[in-house]
Order: sequence, then structure tokens, then C-alpha cells
Amino acid sequence: MPSLPTPHAAVVGLQWGDEGKGKIVDLLTARYDCIVRYNGGANAGHTVQVGTERYALHLIPSGILSHGKTNVVGNGVVVDPEKILEEIEGLRKRGVEVGSNLRISDRAHVVMPYHKDQDAALEDLLAKRAGTKGNGGSIGTTRRGIGPAYADKIRRSTAIRMGDLLDRDLLERKLDTICSMRMAELQALGATIGTNPGEVAPLVPRELAARFSAAGERLRPHITDTVYLLHDAMREGRSVLFEGANACLLDIDHGTFPFVTSSNCSTLGIPSGSGVPGRAIGKVYGIMKAYSTRVGGGPFVTELLDATGDRIRTRGREYGTTTGRARRCGWLDLVAVRYSTMVCGADAIACTLLDVLSGFDELKVCVGYRRADGTVTDRFVPDAERMSEFTPVYETLAGWSRELTDCHDRADLPDEAQQYLAFIEQFTGTPIELVSVGPERTQTLESARKVPVAAR
Ligand code: IMP
Repeated sequence: MPSLPTPHAAVVGLQWGDEGKGKIVDLLTARYDCIVRYNGGANAGHTVQVGTERYALHLIPSGILSHGKTNVVGNGVVVDPEKILEEIEGLRKRGVEVGSNLRISDRAHVVMPYHKDQDAALEDLLAKRAGTKGNGGSIGTTRRGIGPAYADKIRRSTAIRMGDLLDRDLLERKLDTICSMRMAELQALGATIGTNPGEVAPLVPRELAARFSAAGERLRPHITDTVYLLHDAMREGRSVLFEGANACLLDIDHGTFPFVTSSNCSTLGIPSGSGVPGRAIGKVYGIMKAYSTRVGGGPFVTELLDATGDRIRTRGREYGTTTGRARRCGWLDLVAVRYSTMVCGADAIACTLLDVLSGFDELKVCVGYRRADGTVTDRFVPDAERMSEFTPVYETLAGWSRELTDCHDRADLPDEAQQYLAFIEQFTGTPIELVSVGPERTQTLESARKVPVAAR
């Protein structure tokens, strides 16, 4: 096999999502020809601000906002066809070109309405049973049908792929088998099938086939074999940027299981989710917020349930792009970030939302976890049950009062902010190459620095 060139890169979230990846991908996009999503679905939400315009993207790679890029939705993504059509129309209405610059894998799996019903029914059932016989309650999913769609992918015989939407007869045959099975499953989860409010509408194969083959026809110009497309592009010397959705600590294998999403959203999902071997990736940018947030349930050792947490939430506008939910907020957990840089192979960090931390007298960063027996570990434990006993071991750093939104160079930052960044670099053994101090493209400070201590 000929050796692949490696001008290709990846961007991945190092925490529980919402690290501001959209802005960083948008900035980096200028340097790459193809932008590729390889995991997740419409559970992800990227907000990109271009001038005064704010775009919320869920399934389409952020490269769509830059002219002349090829945007690829890879085979590892689960696509809600009606949602992606809505997104395409929304962008076109605002003058954004969406045509041959958007390619969707014919092997990406489809999120159907019954996946969303199943997601909601299971979450409701788990919430109802919370606390009974050790049941930990619901996961707090986005209810976008992500888990059930991936479950069908693994189950194989009940899965529908984007390519199937282009063959109406095949689609109807598949739905014939799936629908009766699915209604029984929904009822077993406590859902009532019916047409009254709050009930799940009966699944009619013919109707679903008509509705989704119509969506497929509208998407036909975009649906293709994206694996060959990417390899052809790389062979022709074009560069690729892989855009991770969700984040490393939500990775199905390496996150805080079971409070995770259903895909490999660390960089480890790139090869399977795009068909491009891992060794093709020359550089990995890990994105982290200057503090921690998460939405949904699950362990969060540095969570602040007090006025400090509220202050971070208000200053950081920490409300979900996808669901509008208020995010849980806390101090920066460096044990978690160091683990994610290791798993993702991050070569550089982009630190976002540093401006949110202005005005605190002091800032805490978590450098270890104390177990119930008093012993301390500085290793992450990707298991919700085992993490639930941890309390944070903090290092306290000096805060700064000045607003940072007008800083244009890292040297303009107050000394305390520079020390905060230096501490992160030392602890993670990874240089911070980008610092974001506001939503605008211009509010980004770049520096290529060497880090003396390889702590990893
Ligand atoms: P699901 O992906 O909808 O199944 O949700 C599983 C968990 O991942 C929930 O805690 C969600 O809140 C979380 N999650 C999924 N996608 C994102 C994201 O893009 N940002 C933050 N949290 C997410």
C-alpha cells in the first residue's frame, strides 16, 4: 500500500462536549480542503459566529461556512434525514452555498422517528425507576434517537443506511420487518401506541417508506461513497480535517460509562467512522474550556452547585445549542483533560472561553481525585460507579480582574491568566497553541510554544 501523506489533522473535544469546537474548526478550516464528521448525529451542536452572524450546526461540518471546501458526513455518523434537510434549507436561506460541497456517506446509518420515540421511552422509564433496586436513573440523553440508531447498526438486521433511502422497494421491505418489532419494543418500554397527545403514532411501513424515500431523493445529490472520495482527495494532495462531535469523555469506550454517547467520539473513532487509517492524521488539536461543564447525568467531580457555578454559567452562557438545557458547571478538571489528551493523542490544545474566568479572586484546578478511603489518585477512571466516590484535590491559582475580550496577543493577557495557561501546559504536557477570549474569529490568540515538561 502506498504511504499516505500526513498534512491531515483532527479536532476533538477533551471534556464532555461544548468546548467551542465549532469556532476552532471554523478557524482551522481555512488551512484544509475537506472537513469530515466521523461520529455522532444531531445530538451535537456547534455554534459558529462569523461577523455578526451566528450559525448553529448539528450534522453538517462547520466547513460549510467557508467557500470552496468539501464537507463530508462520514459513515460513522448517524443521520436524521429530515434534520439535515432542515439544516441545508436554513443555510441556503441565509445565502450559504450547499451543493456538491456537501457529501454524505451512503453507509451512514439513518435515525428514524421510532429511534427518537425509543430514546424518550427508555429515558422516561429509567427516570421513573431511579433509585429502585440500585437503578441509577436516566442518562439524560438529547432524545435525538442516537443510542437506538447505533444499537440498530450493531444489531444489523434492523438497520437502515443512507443508501437504502434511494431504493423505495428495499426501504419498504426493511421497514415491514422493523415496524412490527419496533412497536412491540416501544410498548415494552411503557409507550402507548395511539394518536392521542403523548402517545406514539402507529408505525406504518408504507407511510414511513414514502416519507423517507422522499427525503432520500432530496438528499440523492449528496449521497456517495465517501471512503473512496476521501482517499482520492488525499491521493490528489488535498488535506483533510476531521471534526469530532461530542467529546472524548462521552466516548462509548473511553468516557464516563454509561453516561456517555453511543459512538467513539475520541479521535479513536476516526478510522472506523471515515475509512481513513489513523496514521494518516498528522496533528490532533484537543479543545478544552478553561473550566468544566457537562449536560445530562453522570459523574462530575469538580461540579459547583453554588453561586460560583451560577456565575460561570451566566458569564459563559452555558445553555445547550441542541436542547437549550442549562449546563452543569465546575472548575477545570485537569486529571480528566490529561487523560483525554493521552487517549486522543492531542499534540496541541486550544483553550476556549478563558474570558469567562475574569473577575474571580482565585481559581481552582483539579489535580487529583480523593477516594472514600482518603487515598488519592491522579488517574482518570472512566466508569461512573467508581467515579461517584471521588472528591476533588485542588490546586489554587490566582485570578485576574481584567476582561480579556480585547486581548489580541497572548502577551497582552494578565500575568495570572498566563500562569493559568502555563499550569495547564505543564500538567498535561501539551502546548496550548490557541486561546479563545470571545466568540468572534478575531478573538483568538495564537502561539506555538514549547512545553518543557512532558507530564504524560
Ligand atoms: P445522546 O448522545 O443523546 O445519547 O446523549 C448521551 C449523553 O451525551 C447525554 O449526557 C448528553 O447530554 C451528552 N451529549 C451528547 N452529545 C453532546 C454534545 O454535543 N455536547 C454535550 N453533551 C452531549
